[in-house]
Amino acid sequence: MHRIVEAEGRTTAGGASIVGGLALRAGLAGPTGCVTELPDLRGPALPAFADLVFGGHDLATTPLCKRAEALADAGVIPWRLVAALRDELGVVEQELRPAPVGDTQAERAEAVVRDLTSFRDRHELDRVVVVNVSATEPAPRPHPAHADPAALRAALDGPDEVLPVSSLYAYAAVLAGCPYVDFTPSTGLRLPALAALAEEARLPYAGHDGKTGETLVKSVLAPMFAMRNLAVGSWSGVNLLGGGDGATLADPAANAAKVQSKQRVLGETLGYVPQGGTRIEYVEELGDFKTAWDLITFSGFLGTGMRMEFTWHGCDSALAAPLVLDLARLTAAAHAAGQVGPLADLGFFFKDPLGTPTHSLGEQWARLTAFTRQLHDGGDSDHDNVG
Ligand SMILES: NC(=O)c1ccc[n+]([C@@H]2O[C@H](COP(=O)([O-])OP(=O)(O)OC[C@H]3O[C@@H](n4cnc5c(N)ncnc54)[C@H](O)[C@@H]3O)[C@@H](O)[C@H]2O)c1
Repeated sequence: MHRIVEAEGRTTAGGASIVGGLALRAGLAGPTGCVTELPDLRGPALPAFADLVFGGHDLATTPLCKRAEALADAGVIPWRLVAALRDELGVVEQELRPAPVGDTQAERAEAVVRDLTSFRDRHELDRVVVVNVSATEPAPRPHPAHADPAALRAALDGPDEVLPVSSLYAYAAVLAGCPYVDFTPSTGLRLPALAALAEEARLPYAGHDGKTGETLVKSVLAPMFAMRNLAVGSWSGVNLLGGGDGATLADPAANAAKVQSKQRVLGETLGYVPQGGTRIEYVEELGDFKTAWDLITFSGFLGTGMRMEFTWHGCDSALAAPLVLDLARLTAAAHAAGQVGPLADLGFFFKDPLGTPTHSLGEQWARLTAFTRQLHDGGDSDHDNVG
């Protein structure tokens, strides 16, 4: 039996993926939006939905059922699923833990390790995949202990907040022997000391920041401009969103971390950075439904100027939740196959993919299908994916 732990179980994205996972497990919903159910990816290496068990940590204490009702009220998930899954949601509720307490960060990490290992032991699971779907953090202040595992261990015993919270959970995941996925733009496992510890523990990990809306469209369109040798002069985007994520991103520091994550695709796909930028604005009224509007100016043969605009209206959690389940299944299979380090072949899912400069959705798809085929064929289980 495999298990997913979502680091934060009551989030909008986390709550929707738990309801969605339970609905799939009970056969109450189809897998629309789950790419691992496409014929090119489906296969025996991936844990079945029926084998997934859910748990998590969250600062918020709203009962999961109430959270699911709020999602249904907002039109994010169907009411009939909340009604049909009340008992199952109650069972998952027993597996949600508050944020850890302790005088030092080492003590808090140990508390998370105890939660993870007891979860794994009680349910006799093969593995636990930790998925971070917590609120976006600002970029952390650099600390010398971020560079070295021994220095990090020593510093965590002291009074300082050495690691941002996302990295403390990632550290705990590694100590507990759990593969890790970061669906957010936060630091997570992206520190040299943590990467070294993950490698030492022979663990795979994936990230960063789920690609579900405007950046997803950009990663399809930007390669088109590049392949047709059209010169993009400017690309400006405005994202209007509400919900918890929108409220978090109203903070300028968290906003800056997210914008940085969204910007990489253009420079790295086109080979130059056009004018313009990406703005994110909080509009409470929009809830979990996001509108992104992009204006692109470009020139063709003999300098003829042209423009294109697109508008994206997406329900963030309905787009994110199936990908969270996909990532848990794929990362579990990679761990079972002995893969170690950043899973560059999962770049398809992320705005700021680890271990690969490839931002083009088409190239990422080709890598993902080859990777999954290899997992299903049982090939190359000693392959280290360290990039
Ligand atoms: N389409 C999407 O929904 C999407 C796409 C890409 C990335 N993301 C990222 O996923 C994350 C979650 O998005 P969301 O819309 O679910 O946000 P949300 O605000 O609804 O949920 C955030 C949750 O994190 C919890 N939390 C905050 N700090 C915590 C801590 N220290 N320990 C435990 N829990 C903590 C909060 O209590 C809250 O439940 C964000 O970082 C967002 O940028 C979401």
